[in-house]
Amino acid sequence: MDYGLKGRSALVTGGSHGIGLATARQLAAEGCNVAICSRSAARLKSATTELEAYGVRTLAVAADLLEGNAADQVMDTVEREWGEIQILVNNVGGGGRWGKEIVEETELRVWSDVYEKNAMAAVRFTHRTLPLMRRAKWGRVVTITSIFGGNEGAGRPWFTMAKAAETALMKSLSRMPYLVRDGITFNSVAPGGIYIPSTGFDDERDRDPKGFARMIDLEYPLGRLGTPEEVAAVVAFLCSTHAGLVNGANITVDGGQSRGL
Ligand SMILES: NC(=O)c1ccc[n+]([C@@H]2O[C@H](COP(=O)([O-])OP(=O)(O)OC[C@H]3O[C@@H](n4cnc5c(N)ncnc54)[C@H](OP(=O)(O)O)[C@@H]3O)[C@@H](O)[C@H]2O)c1
Repeated sequence: MDYGLKGRSALVTGGSHGIGLATARQLAAEGCNVAICSRSAARLKSATTELEAYGVRTLAVAADLLEGNAADQVMDTVEREWGEIQILVNNVGGGGRWGKEIVEETELRVWSDVYEKNAMAAVRFTHRTLPLMRRAKWGRVVTITSIFGGNEGAGRPWFTMAKAAETALMKSLSRMPYLVRDGITFNSVAPGGIYIPSTGFDDERDRDPKGFARMIDLEYPLGRLGTPEEVAAVVAFLCSTHAGLVNGANITVDGGQSRGL
């Protein structure tokens, strides 16, 4: 199936690693030009080298989205270089392992940082890209949330709260006729546990290999974690021209991990 993305321009925040990079790859494979932003210049370089192999235009902007007006700086660069963005994937986020088990022992700073990195980053990029999408009379905004911000509801409260805010952001925007009638859709993709090398799951497994295997067996009906590519495949479809009627959805991609209906 042709996703109708050839020649369009996408921004994937946190697109240099994990789910973001897998998404950037799938969009580039569809002929979409892809801009990415994240902190490490080395990761950005290796990601863009890989993406360029698809013959698309790429743009990498180094920025720490927990600092000052970094999102605006990213958008200033993208607008200056490309002047357009029709697809925004609000992927940057995380903080599900930040803080402590004991809520009162967790500094308030953790709550605000996690909210900033997830929900406010999505707000800032969406706010800046909407005028560009309206001008193009077409747009796709997909936000990577989590089952913990949706039908699972568990997880550390600052993370669950921030992810639920992202889901609410997409849903409320999807109900605004003036945006949707300009051809823009807003959806969330809620992954369950996704294995990404050199992130928290490796630490958990190394600390207690048997306990980790037991947890996977109990919590994951498939008997394994998901892959970034399995999430990216859903995101790429939502970005496609075939997904015009999918608006305001929160799509769980968790292999059956979450218990909610
Ligand atoms: N993996 C999972 O199990 C899982 C489950 C549910 C939801 N999610 C969600 O999926 C999204 C992607 O997670 P992931 O697991 O793919 O993460 P990841 O592999 O750690 O990748 C995160 C990306 O964001 C960038 N990044 C991190 N902090 C940043 C900051 N302060 N400023 C700018 N860029 C930053 C990273 O690059 P640099 O480090 O170079 O900045 C990297 O490109 C997140 O929203 C996460 O909450 C993940």
